[in-house]
Amino acid sequence: MPVVTPRFSVLSEDFAADPYRYFAQLREQAPVHHEPEIDCYFVSRHEDVKRVLSDHDAFSTEMLQVRAEPVMRGPILAQMTGAEHTAKRKTVVRGFTGRALQDQIPAIRANASELMAPFLPVGRVDLLNDFGKPFAVHVTLDVLGLDRQDWERVGDWHSGIAEFITSLTLTPERRRHCLDCAEQLEAYLLPVIQERRRRPGEDLISKLCTAEYDGTVMSDREVTGLIINVLVASTEPADKTLALLFKHLVDHPEQLAQVRREPELLGAAIAETLRHTPPVQLIPRQAEGDAVFAGGTVPAGATVFCMVGAANRDPDAFTDPDVFDIHRPDLGTARSFTAAAQHLSFGTGLHQCIGAAFARAEIETVAAMLLPLLDQVRYSPGFRYRETGLYTRGPASLWLDFTPVR
Ligand code: HEM
Repeated sequence: MPVVTPRFSVLSEDFAADPYRYFAQLREQAPVHHEPEIDCYFVSRHEDVKRVLSDHDAFSTEMLQVRAEPVMRGPILAQMTGAEHTAKRKTVVRGFTGRALQDQIPAIRANASELMAPFLPVGRVDLLNDFGKPFAVHVTLDVLGLDRQDWERVGDWHSGIAEFITSLTLTPERRRHCLDCAEQLEAYLLPVIQERRRRPGEDLISKLCTAEYDGTVMSDREVTGLIINVLVASTEPADKTLALLFKHLVDHPEQLAQVRREPELLGAAIAETLRHTPPVQLIPRQAEGDAVFAGGTVPAGATVFCMVGAANRDPDAFTDPDVFDIHRPDLGTARSFTAAAQHLSFGTGLHQCIGAAFARAEIETVAAMLLPLLDQVRYSPGFRYRETGLYTRGPASLWLDFTPVR
């Protein structure tokens, strides 16, 4: 059993290998953990995480100016508050809900069939790297109205940007690389923005270019920030959730058999995957004044990281929290993708994820397609499962074998 000693560090290799082993002790013994190397605080109890994310006066997103803006090339939704946040959030939401969402479903299906086709006769696929990553980038490019053929370079730039935001420790070389990625993505986007201003279509970039805020349209810098915001926010959690869903179903054959028999259980399986292994593990905030918790105090001005994975496994919030159970009565499928969710995988409060319904539809559509194709699905011989990431976390790869489809 690992021990949370005074020298325990969330930056250690042991923690990175399996943070879930430490969450119970963190919640019980160090619910407000201070990490001296980066001078940040980590809260792990469900109640505390919910409080930090909901009390917007006491905990701001001020630190994103340093943590995100340099690579986002403009302000992102998480930095905004008040009328500006409401108006711009509404414009982005329009690209991911209602008719826009329904219109995307056939493209999601076509995209998934095309990407999976080469692997079906072989009977082996790395569901994360061969399929999930290109799939998730394609879907976001479709929504934005960017060319799918550019997915590899957009994906590379996006990875550099995500690295900047999610690294707790970044070397000067990696920092330069991340900033280069952001500059290249910005240079790629600017001509597209200009073109959409002249000839708007139905895509999200056109909506961002034409939406008026306070009687004026957004500047190129504002539109660029929101495009990169959507790109970064929507792709990584989606590919990780899809791979984690299949991992949990392969690990629990009886639940896999139930989902195969009753595909309408997929929503519950996705919700439980998000609760059990949230792809976004850390959400940062800045304490505006001294913040006193039952287990310690976060001083004014300090960065505090909400540990979503630990909060979702808090026995005060969920019964038998370490058990993966798609039938758990304390989750609730429908509410798991709304502001009423009991798990915190989409955050909560003002900045709660706007893509929850879209992510559900995207993953449900693709999983419903894949399950009948992946007959006798199992881990490939010799495959060793490994997860990576502290901020966002998911499988490094997911090699699966199945009955070849001729
Ligand atoms: C399984 C998939 C997803 C997960 C787990 C997830 C998770 C999250 C979390 C934890 C936050 C809160 C961040 C904070 O409070 O600072 C967030 C916000 C956000 N998400 Fe998602 N997300 C997912 C999919 C998507 C998709 C598909 C989109 C597409 C639009 C998206 C767009 C956003 C945006 C724009 C925000 C910022 C909202 C604001 O600040 O008002 N997400 N997401």
